[in-house]
Amino acid sequence: MQKLNLTKSLEMFDEAQRLSPGGVMGIRRPYNFVPGEYPIFITHGKGGHIFDVDGNEYIDMLCSYGPIILGHVEPEIDDAVVAQLKSGFCFSLVQPWQNMLLKKLTEIIPCAEMGIIVKTGSDATTCAVRIARGFTDQPVILRCGYHGWHDWCVEARGGVLRKAYEDVHEFHYNDLGGLEKLLNEHKGNVAGIIITPVGHPLNARVQAPAPGFLEGVRELATRHGAVLIFDEIRTGFRVALGGAQARYGVTPDLAVFGKAMANGYPIAAVVGRGEVMKIAEKKVFISSTFFPNSLEMVAALKCIGILERDRVLDSIWERGQKFLDRLHAIVAASGVPCTASGIPPMPFLTFDHDDAGRYKERRTRFYTGAIRRGLFIQPFHHWYICHRHTDADLDRALDVIKEALAEV
Ligand SMILES: Cc1ncc(COP(=O)(O)O)c(C=O)c1O
Repeated sequence: MQKLNLTKSLEMFDEAQRLSPGGVMGIRRPYNFVPGEYPIFITHGKGGHIFDVDGNEYIDMLCSYGPIILGHVEPEIDDAVVAQLKSGFCFSLVQPWQNMLLKKLTEIIPCAEMGIIVKTGSDATTCAVRIARGFTDQPVILRCGYHGWHDWCVEARGGVLRKAYEDVHEFHYNDLGGLEKLLNEHKGNVAGIIITPVGHPLNARVQAPAPGFLEGVRELATRHGAVLIFDEIRTGFRVALGGAQARYGVTPDLAVFGKAMANGYPIAAVVGRGEVMKIAEKKVFISSTFFPNSLEMVAALKCIGILERDRVLDSIWERGQKFLDRLHAIVAASGVPCTASGIPPMPFLTFDHDDAGRYKERRTRFYTGAIRRGLFIQPFHHWYICHRHTDADLDRALDVIKEALAEV
């Protein structure tokens, strides 16, 4: 399969590197895909498809790293936002949308008695950790998963003071023993446990919760007096309307939501038990100029309304299950050492590690084959199924996966 024409993307990237350190930020840099094979600049999207500056079209199963739950350019949401735009959206005070959105969140999310609206996932996880420390007056945070770019949880530590993360310790997904060991080591000093209820492909080879795992985490948190925080930035408004906690029946003390909440508009939320949340009334400070801006709240209410009205997540789950079943069959027939490892709304393919590191070569070949055939997915992040992916899109994606694995 021929290499794509990416001339304009690469020219723009050259220019970008003169304008901004690294050209583009973090996860959008070419080394997170296959350098030289993936587009870097996008012009537009529609439904489940995106188009790059060289005119290539792709089935988008990265979905903007998670926010796109319906599809690109949803007129119902955009019309509601434009209507609000005409009355203003940035004031010194809040607009009534805040209460409407919070009321909605408390209706649909099991742990939510109160909430705080912020802008990004990193804002939300950082607020939740601060609330947990304020509530317990303890320093230690036990974490599992990616929680954003802020000092307490950042992966690359240049420019970050050691003391910002020295009370933060990581445990592995689906490893209750590891968590219990940490809780015992820091007995009496643990403020909170923050965990992505579905594992991250980067550091969990199996991403679905093992039977009893989430229940065990809940029980351990209660026993040790730690605030349990579910990081539902990826799973919220995707795995179920009320998040993974609704799907798997385990209720944390606090939870954070973002990404799919408004189909791409920047908004996130911290929600949880009133007794814990109330610590942010006086003792814990949370504030930002843009937190109360209402356009994203309008978009979120519209998006959640559509998800409910059209039973979107049931359909995504059902189609995702079929996709994952077929992915399992394709993988088994391929003879390539890899595993279909995600959950139905967030499928993924993990290349089985080997001592010689040959899996990295296989992975690169696979993703090269996928992008050349017009399937936009990423080696280190869940793939996603959105509402506007047609059955033909998903069939085509599976054909591409089969052909790309054959090349591996
Ligand atoms: C589980 C999880 N938590 C937090 C974040 C941080 O969110 P943001 O990038 O919006 O700051 C992410 C982003 O990918 C995430 O996947």
